[in-house]
This record gives sequence, structure tokens and C-alpha cells, in this order.
Amino acid sequence: MRKRLVAGNWKMHKTPSEARQWFRELIAQLPPTQAEPALLVPFTHLPYASEVLEGHGVSWGAQDVSAHPEGAYTGEVSARMLADLACKYTIVGHSERRSYHAESDALVAEKARRLLEQGITPILCVGEPLHVREAGEHVEYTLRQLEGSLEGVNPPSASHLVIAYEPVWAIGTGKTATPEDAEAMHRAIRGWLIARYGSGFAEELRILYGGSVKPDNATALFSQPNIDGGLVGGASLKLGDYLQLLTA
Ligand code: PGA
Repeated sequence: MRKRLVAGNWKMHKTPSEARQWFRELIAQLPPTQAEPALLVPFTHLPYASEVLEGHGVSWGAQDVSAHPEGAYTGEVSARMLADLACKYTIVGHSERRSYHAESDALVAEKARRLLEQGITPILCVGEPLHVREAGEHVEYTLRQLEGSLEGVNPPSASHLVIAYEPVWAIGTGKTATPEDAEAMHRAIRGWLIARYGSGFAEELRILYGGSVKPDNATALFSQPNIDGGLVGGASLKLGDYLQLLTA
């Protein structure tokens, strides 16, 4: 009943014109799939995403958003601007933003609220660094992060929020959580969501796994009962790999 989401996080890759070409190739080769494809691309690529992908069953969005609705914030991009480009999703709280830009849980929650005000679904990332996993405190750590990052975040329905569990030690490293370890965390997250939002809501909400998802490990991960798809970095940049993930 939860439609799987295969969300590509392009990070800072490709130029806008390379992206436009890639989008055209994607829609020409899109396989029949029960999953929902989505691409989270740099801001500069979004006009081409809306131009090329519209009407083809592929969603798009950004990788970050300003915590402010509007105003004198040089270099920032508002949720309203993203809504104007028909973004369906936008990532907030990615570990690269949390660590390189010192984003706190409170700031992430603020950004999620801005997105919801504009009808955009936040893909909210949480996950523990290696030393926390090694100390066996990953569940506690991740749930605390979730709680802080969802402060005052009240999505109108379960389809208006996506959680991505991304263990920091698995991002871009080639190390993946085993399907069993990932599933255990996803189960803990769903349990927390049930307590917070109620079971009907939490059972419908999608929880993605992220961290070195590749065509050869995606099927094992995506077939776990509480893993509803992936947030995929590296493998989403190669068309062939991304197409394989859609059918995994
Ligand atoms: P990766 O990135 O798939 O390259 O590990 C995942 C992410 O950072 O979202």
C-alpha cells in the first residue's frame, strides 16, 4: 500500500544542460515500474526538470530550502520559489548540510515547516555517525534527531512527509547497512512515528533508506517490510543504474 519512492539525490553534479539531456533520456527509457521516480537536483536544474519531466510520472525537487519565507537573505531560495517550479519533494536535514553548514535539528524543522506551507513534501534525513553506531547508541541518537527535526512539523497527511534514514558512515563510502540492520532502524522509526502521529498515519508514511544504495543491493534493501524505497546519491547519476533501481 505504500508506494515505493526511488529518490535520486544528485548533490552538486551535472550542469543544467547536461541535466536536461539526462531527463529526456530518462523519460524515453522509463521502464514500467510500481515505484515512484523522483529527482532532487541543484536549484539551477529545476526549470528544466519541470519543462521536461512534467506529465511523465517522474517527480522532482530541490536538496535544500531557506528557513525564511522571503526577504533580504542573499543566496537563499524560498519554498515559494520551489513551489512555483512545481517541486513535489525537497530534502531537508541531509547529513552534508548538517555537518558542512552546521544545520541544527531546530533549523531543519523550520525548513520542513516552510515547505509544508507551500504544499511541498519534505524528505527529512536522519542517521547516526560511525562512532555512535559503534557505541550501540544509533537508535536513541536517530530518534532524538527525528524528534528535534519534527518539532512543530504537522503534515496534513502521511503523503506530505517522507523520512530518509541515512547512516552517515554509509553515505558515499560504498559501505551499506545490512538489510536487517536497516530494517531494525526503520522499524524503530515507524514505532516512534506511531507514538507521535498515530498508527494510521505512521503506517502510510514512507521511510527511505539511503547510503550507498546500488543496483546490486537495492532489491534486498527494498524488500524489507519497513523500507519504502531509497534516497540514492551516486547511483542516481548514471541513467542505467537509476533505471535498474526503479525495477529493483
Ligand atoms: P550515496 O548518497 O548513495 O552516494 O551514498 C546517498 C545520499 O547522500 O543521499
